[in-house]
Amino acid sequence: MTQRIVSVLFLISSLWLVSCTPTVNHSKRMDSNKTVHTILNRKSVRSYAKKLVEKEKVDTLLRAAMSAPTAVNKQPWAFVVIDNPQILEKLSTSLPYAKMAASAPMAIVVCGDLNKTLRGQDDPYWPLDCSAASENLLLAAESMGLGAVWTAVYPEKDRTEIVSEILSLPEYIVSFNLIPVGYPKHPEEPKDKFKEENIHYNQW
Ligand SMILES: Cc1cc2nc3c(=O)[nH]c(=O)nc-3n(C[C@H](O)[C@H](O)[C@H](O)COP(=O)(O)O)c2cc1C
Repeated sequence: MTQRIVSVLFLISSLWLVSCTPTVNHSKRMDSNKTVHTILNRKSVRSYAKKLVEKEKVDTLLRAAMSAPTAVNKQPWAFVVIDNPQILEKLSTSLPYAKMAASAPMAIVVCGDLNKTLRGQDDPYWPLDCSAASENLLLAAESMGLGAVWTAVYPEKDRTEIVSEILSLPEYIVSFNLIPVGYPKHPEEPKDKFKEENIHYNQW
């Protein structure tokens, strides 16, 4: 009888101890959340396996991009999907930091549509809206086992002109970036960029 009481007391005290243990490694705990896991694991991928990206996955990338928030819900964007190897090659040789596009099975050019902006042709919000769409696209790629990288076009005028020429864009469409997408050639690790010093509470 005494032995049973001792065992029960031991069990109760163990449970109490476990419940009082402080939460350690918060980021690891949050990483068990699928969305946070995807965000923390996103990385720029610049080399790709020789494998095509399935049509359903391309559709999901575009759907994810268009789910982004936009100022006054204007959705001032357009997306050009490129899977023609000659066009990929042309973009890769014409843009200074997009060499990897030539070896990608596809790429998406995120564009701003100046006819759909909040404040006309000089609208300052459309690049912010396109940024949100681009990040959504990159995260969707990561979540589906794809690798992608944002390569800069806008705001470099010479680059937007090059892309307009290659893709025959109408004058109200401005290319924002070129995102090559493919299956990663080899596994890659995300960079850890968390810095306590960047955070301020209530005041600087
Ligand atoms: C506005 C912007 C422009 C970028 N331009 C290029 C580019 O032209 N070529 C490239 O290879 N990567 C480019 N990147 C990707 C960055 O180099 C990359 O995000 C950064 O090195 C951090 O690495 P990570 O994406 O793996 O976290 C760009 C990213 C952003 C947000």
